[in-house]
Amino acid sequence: MTLRQPIVSVLGHVDHGKTTLLDQIRGSSIAAREYGQITQHIGATEVSIANIYSICADIIGQKKFSVPGLLFIDTPGHQAFTTLRARGGALADLAILVIDIKEGIMPQTVESLKILKAYKTPFVVVANKIDLIYGWKTVYNKPFVMALKDQREAVTEDLNQRIYQIAEQLYNNGFSAERYDRIDDFTKNVAIIPVSAKHKVGIADLLLVLVGLAQKFLESDLRTLDEPGAATILEVKDEKGFGKTLDLILYQGVIKKGDIIVFEGIYKPIVSRVKALLRPSPDNSSKLNIVNFATAAAGIKILASDLDFVKAGGMLKVATLKTLEKVVEEIKSEGNIKIELKDDGVVIKADAIGSLEAMAFELNILEIPIKKAELGEVSKRDVVDAQTSEDELYKVILAYNVKCTLDQKDVPVICGNILYKIIDDYKIWRENRALELEVESRKAYIYPVKLLVLENNIFRVSKPAIVGVRVLGGELRAGVKILKPDGRVIGTLKSIREKENTLDKAIMGSEIAISIDNAVIGRNLKENDILYADLREEDIRFLKTQVLSYEEKEIIEEVLKIKRKDKAFWGA
Ligand code: GTP
Ligand code: MG
Repeated sequence: MTLRQPIVSVLGHVDHGKTTLLDQIRGSSIAAREYGQITQHIGATEVSIANIYSICADIIGQKKFSVPGLLFIDTPGHQAFTTLRARGGALADLAILVIDIKEGIMPQTVESLKILKAYKTPFVVVANKIDLIYGWKTVYNKPFVMALKDQREAVTEDLNQRIYQIAEQLYNNGFSAERYDRIDDFTKNVAIIPVSAKHKVGIADLLLVLVGLAQKFLESDLRTLDEPGAATILEVKDEKGFGKTLDLILYQGVIKKGDIIVFEGIYKPIVSRVKALLRPSPDNSSKLNIVNFATAAAGIKILASDLDFVKAGGMLKVATLKTLEKVVEEIKSEGNIKIELKDDGVVIKADAIGSLEAMAFELNILEIPIKKAELGEVSKRDVVDAQTSEDELYKVILAYNVKCTLDQKDVPVICGNILYKIIDDYKIWRENRALELEVESRKAYIYPVKLLVLENNIFRVSKPAIVGVRVLGGELRAGVKILKPDGRVIGTLKSIREKENTLDKAIMGSEIAISIDNAVIGRNLKENDILYADLREEDIRFLKTQVLSYEEKEIIEEVLKIKRKDKAFWGA
């Protein structure tokens, strides 16, 4: 049975060498041209198995593979990875995570690891730029295992130390990893391949490990040539002499001239027919050749009508008259966002379904519910939806890879293009907001306080009565009702003054003047009276959940005693 080519995507932190690595893989295969067709397809680089045999000649031994080659996607970066999907997962069957050996794991590396975990994509790690290790003896175009033999012991040791550190960092991110030539079981360990993309060291090792992995773990996934053609749309392009064309990565089956095709449109599935198939010429990728068919996996360009509302990153399937109805339904459901929404939760926005799903995956781990998940920029409608969340901690919009230019101050919008940074920022915001809410709620409840009316401190008899008091315990705030030990409420505390200043609160020990409306000296208030803040049952319930001082607890007990003279179970 023929297997299709696995699709390999490249991820990693900025400047760690993704593009250089792909260029060198392409360059190596072009150098080995005589062994087979080497094509740089649309948005993709194909390396045939014949090329791989040739590049890896020195280290391959007697190994034979039935995988026909590897198709590298040339649009590296995690953005592309989450944007391009297939079969409900990521388009790539395998991934290469590039890490600069001198820098180690960086923010986008962590991001990539999360994405790979979310999509369960098998991957290898390229520890790149080993030529920068102090004392490295420059060699060109050699497998790593052979280049290593040329190095002094100190260099080997330094290299091992750095690989060990990367392995440790990967471990901290949930992956067990090891230098590839020391791995017995590739199902349990992620392979680390030391590479100098610049000097073409380790490219052979990398290709060999990738083909080995594909052969071992993906065989069943790669037996899809007999299934109907299916592709992911990269983009719609105006091509001179042809008009509008579709660039595709065909990942399953075959696509032929004349085939009926159904693809995701911005509004609804679009049905069309393949007028012509184009592939870049093997010798000159800027020249397009007309072909009659293509088999997976391949990068191809097609000519068809009705390409005005195509959704880039969307899916395309080949149909027959018999299957058309079914395929239209499939494409329709493919365009649906498969994220579980709750009645209350945060609002999330992203540039592509894949990004949205990756974000939902992360939030799900943190048990943060999602109320709305949509593609596109943050809109006024999103702001309203976020504002109406019941839980204060969900009144927020998280936006991934989209423009956040809407001018509004009603809800916070946390946006960016590093997913885990957005999630971290949200966590920080949530913590701060929870503290704020806590402070606000403290304001809404009444706290216990006990006062003593001082001798010779009557300033005004009534309307309002003004007296000097000492705060015996707790904290006094304006606005509380004043309770007497006999259970009477004599009025509301209007203001707190200390000399010329009005205060909003007074702490234990302070001596201040207070005004109480409705109190009348001689009738319900006099020198040496003990006064309390009148607590409500809801205050008692709330206070039970708070950390209180010894004095505050005592005062609550005293208030309970006063209240329970009438109602035995008050505040229970
Ligand atoms: P972005 O696309 O910006 O994320 O970067 P990238 O990961 O594609 O990195 P790129 O290939 O552009 O390389 C970044 C820099 O590192 C360039 O200056 C490369 O020449 C250099 N570089 C890449 N690989 C190697 C290597 O193996 N050794 C050394 N010394 N430099 C390298
Ligand atoms: Mg690049």
